[in-house]
Formats: sequence, C-alpha cells, structure tokens
Amino acid sequence: MKILVVGSGGREHAIAWRLAQDEEGHELYCAPGNAGTAAIATNVAVAAEDVEAIAAWATMNHPDLVVVGPEAPLVKGLVDALQGIGVPAFGPVAAGARMEGSKRFAKEVMNSAGVPTGKAEVFTDAAAAKAALPSFGLPVVIKADGLAAGKGVIVAETVEQAEDAIDDMLVGNKFGAAGAEVLIEEFLHGEECSILALVDGENAVLLPSSQDHKRVFDGDKGPNTGGMGAYSPAPVVTADRLPEIKEKIILPVVRELKKRGIVYRGVLYAGLMVNDENSNPHGPVAKSGSAVNVVEFNARFGDPETEAVLPRLGGSFATALLHAATGQLKDEDVVVKDEAAATVIIASGGYPGSYEKGKEIRGIGNGEWGTGDCIVFHCGTKAADGKILTSGGRVLSVTGMGATLREAVDKAYAGVAKISFDKMFYRKDIAHRAFDRG
Ligand code: AMP
Ligand code: GLY
Repeated sequence: MKILVVGSGGREHAIAWRLAQDEEGHELYCAPGNAGTAAIATNVAVAAEDVEAIAAWATMNHPDLVVVGPEAPLVKGLVDALQGIGVPAFGPVAAGARMEGSKRFAKEVMNSAGVPTGKAEVFTDAAAAKAALPSFGLPVVIKADGLAAGKGVIVAETVEQAEDAIDDMLVGNKFGAAGAEVLIEEFLHGEECSILALVDGENAVLLPSSQDHKRVFDGDKGPNTGGMGAYSPAPVVTADRLPEIKEKIILPVVRELKKRGIVYRGVLYAGLMVNDENSNPHGPVAKSGSAVNVVEFNARFGDPETEAVLPRLGGSFATALLHAATGQLKDEDVVVKDEAAATVIIASGGYPGSYEKGKEIRGIGNGEWGTGDCIVFHCGTKAADGKILTSGGRVLSVTGMGATLREAVDKAYAGVAKISFDKMFYRKDIAHRAFDRG
C-alpha cells in the first residue's frame, strides 16, 4: 500500500516503523516526519497541521491510506477533508476529535452513555465555580475545557490552589479560549493506565494495555511532561478487566457518538484510573461506584505509549488501520505478541521548561536500530550536515523488547547507555509501578 503518516514525533516514527515491518511491504511517506522517519519513509515537507496542503498532496499522489498521528490536524478537520476527496484516512473526523478537544463534550458523551467517570460540573463564572468547590472535597481537579498543551489540568490539594486555578483560567485568561469554560471534577484515587482501542465506527478492538510516566523526575516527582516513558503490558489492568473496559467504556462511547451522527474511526484512547486491590495506590471508591473510571479520552495514539505498544503487534498493521478507517475492523486484525516492551524517553536538559536545541546526538548510528530487541524512535531530531541534532524537548524514544518486563527494561536502558548528547537526561525508573508490586 501507499501510505502517508502525518506528524513528526516518536509516535509517528513508531507508526511508520511498524508499517515498515509488515510482510507485504509498503511505500511510506511522512508529513513532515523527522530524521528517524527519513530512514524508512520519504519525508514530505508539509506541516502536520496544514490541512489544505496535505489534502492537496493526497489529491496528487493517491495514497491508499493516510494515518493521522497528532490531535491538532484531527481537530482541524484533516480527516473530513480527506474523506471529501475519497482518500481513506485513519483518525476521527473533527466532530469525533472533540472527545479530546473538549473535556465538557467528552463528559456529556460519557454521562449520556453511562460510562463511569469522575463527577464534574462546568463553569464560566469564577464566583460560581468557587462556590461549588466545597461539594467536591479535597483534592479536587480543575480542568480547562479545551486543548492547553497538557497544562490545562490542575490537581489542587488546597482550596487556595483550586481558587487560583479557577482565577487563572476564568479571570486571567491563562489558556485563552481553551480555558473560557472550566470543569471542576471529583479526584479519582488509584493507578492510571492507557487503553488504546482501534475503532471502525461501530466495532472496536483493544490494543495491549500500557502505562506512561507523566512526571519529569524519578519517583513521579516534578512537573508533568508529554510522557517520559511507557511500558506494556500494564499489570494494573488484569486480563478480566479488558472485556469490561470494551463493553462498558469504549463501545458505549462509540454508540453514543453514532447516535449523535458522528461515525468515529481511528484510535479511541482511554486514560483510565483503576482503583482496586491490585492498583498501587488505591483509595476511596469513586462516586460512580466503579473500580475503573475514565480520566480522559484522546482521539489518537498516545505518545510515548505507541512506542511501547506497536512493537508488540504482529500481523499486518496497515490492514488493521485500513479496516478501521473503512468500517471493516475484525478481532483478527490485531495480533499481539507474547512479549513485553519498555520505552525510555531521552530528553533535553530543562524540559518540560525551556531547553537548548541543535546538540549533536552520538551513538544512534545510521538507522541500524530498527531491528532486534532495541529500537530507537526519533521524537525531536533534525538531520544536518550528516549529523543528527536535537530539535525538541523529547528527543529520542528507546524501546526494549523481552520475554519479561524486566528484560525489556534492561534492553531499553542498555540502548540508552550507548547514546549521548550535551545535557541529555532520562528517567531511570521506567515501569517502577509494575516492579513495585513484586
Ligand atoms: P488529563 O489531561 O485529563 O489526562 O489530566 C492530566 C492528568 O491529571 C491525568 O493523567 C491524571 O494524572 C490527572 N487527573 C486528571 N483528572 C483527574 C481526576 N479526576 N482524578 C485524579 N487525577 C486526575
Ligand atoms: N502519553 C499521554 C498522551 O499521549 O496524551
């Protein structure tokens, strides 16, 4: 197949890499891609968010499939545009991407569909929001309705912190239009995990469970990042939970969207809080009464979860994505290998705050990292003068594979040890929650 992957991060490198593993072989393009995708695909110099330019490229080049990585082009209607010119596209239409783009919309859909999630109320007025705080107790979660680059969620431990967050969003306009509506949400106790489901408008197939590491420092300390590592499977999701997650969370959402006239195709990513005797930590039961609650939905593959989940998939990945994009998904389309995977993100010093770019990366060779039990995905890199330079906060995603999670983690860190650039850093405790449980 001729396939265009839209995006330029570790997730898109992993998608392109996994497509390149398909036995049938594909002609791969990435828009715009990065130094890593350049080794396995043809990079097309078009920005991921430039809906018109990507549609124009598709009109000229007739791809069999376009796979959209990031949320921004989905929210901007890239899939609607591609459908309009008859090009199969993997990803939801803009109306479906609101599951990620608007937390209020996602809550409405969940409530209509009876999906367990934290109790929440929506406010546009700061005084009314503050007056409602006592009914939520502490901690309490304050969320901007729209996309705020991962910074629009404040878990407040005190009333003062909660009131400050409300003022920042509703009075100080900190997130602009994205924060013009605010959700106050019940704090959910437990351990988080990610479930990525392929969806074809009607049916869904769950990909293997994973867990990411959002905080920047070891021991889950410091500010939130886009993700500092991931592993799969996540033992907090016991096998008996998977059918429940599909039947009570994923499918009801897909059906509710369909009722609203939205045919949702692509990935539905459920960020879940699991609160049972197996979760670490666990605490008071949520108001929904359920042990598994939705924290958020995303309309795309997670990053870095994708770098840990896709290497575990067998079979033809392109067929699975095409079947999802065209309403023909079957359980057999997803084949899971009985292996574990762990991904370590190598970041630029200073991330998630300000950091320098343009540092030469040593030890990543010339693309021979795409095989075997350690794979290096590029997240923020740029090729220049025969060198590979850093060009982002998250720079590389190093995935190890093994028969056990311990083996996978060791393989990943053995790979990391060979790589260096000025001021690089990474977390040394990836998968600690899985190991903590013994
Ligand atoms: P979100 O962008 O909604 O995923 O929120 C970012 C992070 O905030 C989540 O990954 C959780 O760690 C935390 N969070 C969000 N909502 C809640 C909640 N209701 N209870 C506890 N933690 C939450
Ligand atoms: N790893 C979290 C996300 O992709 O949103």
